[in-house]
Amino acid sequence: MQLIQNGRDLTQAVAQARSLGKKIGFVPTMGALHQGHMALVKKAEETCDFVVVSAFVNPLQFGEGEGFEDYPRTISVDARLVTDQGADVLFAPGVNDVYPKDVEIKKLIAGPIGQAFEGTIRPGHFDGMLTVVSRLFDMVTPDQVFFGEKDAQQVALVAKLLRDQIVSGERSPIKLVVCDTVRDADGLALSSRNRRLSKDQLEVAKTIYPALLAGSRAGPSAAKITDAAKAKLDPAAKLEYLELVDPQSFTPVPSTLPTPTRLIISVRVGEIRLIDNLLIDGTE
Ligand code: PAF
Repeated sequence: MQLIQNGRDLTQAVAQARSLGKKIGFVPTMGALHQGHMALVKKAEETCDFVVVSAFVNPLQFGEGEGFEDYPRTISVDARLVTDQGADVLFAPGVNDVYPKDVEIKKLIAGPIGQAFEGTIRPGHFDGMLTVVSRLFDMVTPDQVFFGEKDAQQVALVAKLLRDQIVSGERSPIKLVVCDTVRDADGLALSSRNRRLSKDQLEVAKTIYPALLAGSRAGPSAAKITDAAKAKLDPAAKLEYLELVDPQSFTPVPSTLPTPTRLIISVRVGEIRLIDNLLIDGTE
């Protein structure tokens, strides 16, 4: 595994792999890697011959007081995990490599999908996320990219970004691979934020997935689904949103469910925001 910290070395490594006919897989992350990320890397290795994992804490996707400075930076642990998983490159650039002063970076606007839910709570977050994702795609030039379903609104935005850029001819085709959410034994979706939960808060957080499951089984009325989910959630989890949305547009669905529909949730446990979701596809 090569640890690469600047764009020039990355371009060289990718060009060499491509000259050998290798298919390039890319897993973008902000580091602080856990088994959820490793599942993405594993998936990338199944279908690609050269796998790049990025670890870059993107200042553009953090608002005031959202903890950019405090975001865990654990590069040596990340490097070990990526090595053990067998990926080829850990790309850990500095801010000046991703946003060099002499290169005009196109700042992207997330539009309607990015304005609801996470976009309301974190204004500008998705603009910054799309800007860095597009920039990293330019740098890595992958054939396939791997994202986790846990961040479903992010996935919907990246899918639209790729569709738009590929259709307009701005970008060569890239396949978006969406990987299942990785959960612990109690169903809690893995997240770098979980490590900040106290023992008691962890117990509260563990009620999120059972709430989603209960909701998904209570259909087809939207009200019954959200009521069933709320009833399972520990009251100490402060609900920010619990909604049924169209999986692509993230617009709310009618009162009797069309399928597939995504049940999305955000809660605050103490100071820690946790999100999760479940696709209701009518098969259960
Ligand atoms: O999901 C994340 O970790 C980040 O939003 C991403 C996609 C790496 C962009 O910074």
